[in-house]
Amino acid sequence: MNAANLFSQYHIGNFWLRYLHVLAGIAWIGLLYYFNFVQVPGLAAYGDKGEARNITITQIASRALWWFRWAAVATLATGLLIVGVIPDYMQDFMNHAGDDPANAKNAAITVGMLLGITMAANVWMVIWKNQKVVIANATNVLNGGQADPNAAGAGRRAMLMSRQNMIFSVSMLFYMVGAAHFYPEAFSATTSDGYTFIIISVVLGALLQLNALGKFGGTAAGNKMLRPYESHKNAIISSIILWLVLFVVSIIFMG
Ligand code: HEM
Repeated sequence: MNAANLFSQYHIGNFWLRYLHVLAGIAWIGLLYYFNFVQVPGLAAYGDKGEARNITITQIASRALWWFRWAAVATLATGLLIVGVIPDYMQDFMNHAGDDPANAKNAAITVGMLLGITMAANVWMVIWKNQKVVIANATNVLNGGQADPNAAGAGRRAMLMSRQNMIFSVSMLFYMVGAAHFYPEAFSATTSDGYTFIIISVVLGALLQLNALGKFGGTAAGNKMLRPYESHKNAIISSIILWLVLFVVSIIFMG
């Protein structure tokens, strides 16, 4: 064993950063699933026990959100560092002539990263932005202050985007892991096939993202466009449909 080799640039990028990346990723996505499958349904089950709900928000949700948003930053940073540190990771990006497994691999990690980067932006710019309003309201009411009339709307916007991130996560992890362990062996693609797969994925992802932001008819509960997000069960079904559609598109263009 060569001790210097343990921390060579190649191993820092290929192993050490990957290990830290997956560690941060499970912390982030584990908490995302806790919010989606445990906390949101749990708080809804409190019914009219407003004080109990506000205590849970200030004592539990605020702590979970701290780990959640910083784990998202750590996952994003280590993911981008993998690309930056591994020598030539993307030097030949989408530039392989003819049918080439490297095109399929690059297309897969591009889609995985775009989904992950969108999810990290959603954590900070939508979920945390709105949860700050919810936490401030819960703290204020527990201290005897007036309820904020904007808190319910903020909570709903955070919930919609949290379910959207859950929907994205199933496909995101598939392409993240598939980029090293599935697409290079099982698929090959021309440069334009890879780009076509990426473009279709981006268009589908953008439509879902705009929908979760309420751009197609608002965020109110009556909007039928928001049916994929109206329960965590609907969101689970939506996540499987998105995964299936993207997988079939990847087979059509790169299989
Ligand atoms: C936030 C944006 C993200 C970026 C930019 C990113 C980037 C990357 C990159 C470049 C790789 C290496 C792919 C390869 O093997 O060539 C990777 C692998 C991986 N990432 Fe991410 N990632 C992100 C989010 C996530 C999230 C949220 C998770 C959730 C757990 C995750 C889990 C993984 C896993 C499990 C691997 C595969 C490790 C392996 O099989 O060797 N990533 N990521």
